[in-house]
Amino acid sequence: MKKNKISKNWINKHRRDIYVRKSKIEGYRSRAIYKLKEIDQKFKIILNGINIVDLGSAPGSWSQYLSEKSKNSKILSIDLKEVTKIDNVHHLIGNFMEEKNQSIMINFFGNNIDLVVSDMAVNTTGNKNLDAISTGELSMSAMDFSIKNLNKNGCFLSKLFMGSTFNEIVEKAKKNFKEVKIFKPPSSRKDSKENFIICKKIR
Ligand SMILES: C[S@@+](CC[C@H](N)C(=O)[O-])C[C@H]1O[C@@H](n2cnc3c(N)ncnc32)[C@H](O)[C@@H]1O
Repeated sequence: MKKNKISKNWINKHRRDIYVRKSKIEGYRSRAIYKLKEIDQKFKIILNGINIVDLGSAPGSWSQYLSEKSKNSKILSIDLKEVTKIDNVHHLIGNFMEEKNQSIMINFFGNNIDLVVSDMAVNTTGNKNLDAISTGELSMSAMDFSIKNLNKNGCFLSKLFMGSTFNEIVEKAKKNFKEVKIFKPPSSRKDSKENFIICKKIR
């Protein structure tokens, strides 16, 4: 299929999507909010007063939900892109993969992080396998960061694509966390290879 035909199909699908319409009505910046909300309703990961890192946060719907749901929490988000200000969320513009940015995040919380959520994904190339590998690398680094820096009872949530890195990431999660679950929220598009991994309590 030609590239402009693919994008036309995508635009039509996006317009018909009930979650897109709902997010506009409810004032959220992206339909992605409903994935986090559904994950939280099932796994109860967002609690009051905890320290939260939001990786790959632009345009900001997860941060909006975190800020609403978790009162008195300290929240730091990072993205390659700028994010319009959200109440109670500090935003860092930069590459999460750079060590200097990871140090800034750790110092911001004084080594006291309770929850890391990652919706990071590379710009899609149209090659679903390649996209899964590149996004897998981001998930793996987010997990490494979480294993090193989360509190003992902390929680790590990440987007994960079915693909060659999937098993490796799940295996690593099971070695390092006591509870590991894979979940595809109802609002995640059926034709997407996307899943989410929820990991609780460092071993
Ligand atoms: C699917 S979007 C996130 C949507 C967001 N959770 C929301 O609710 O609005 C994925 C984001 O990951 C970001 N990203 C990709 N690689 C990154 C990296 N190395 N460091 C920081 N952000 C990254 C992209 O810039 C993009 O904004």
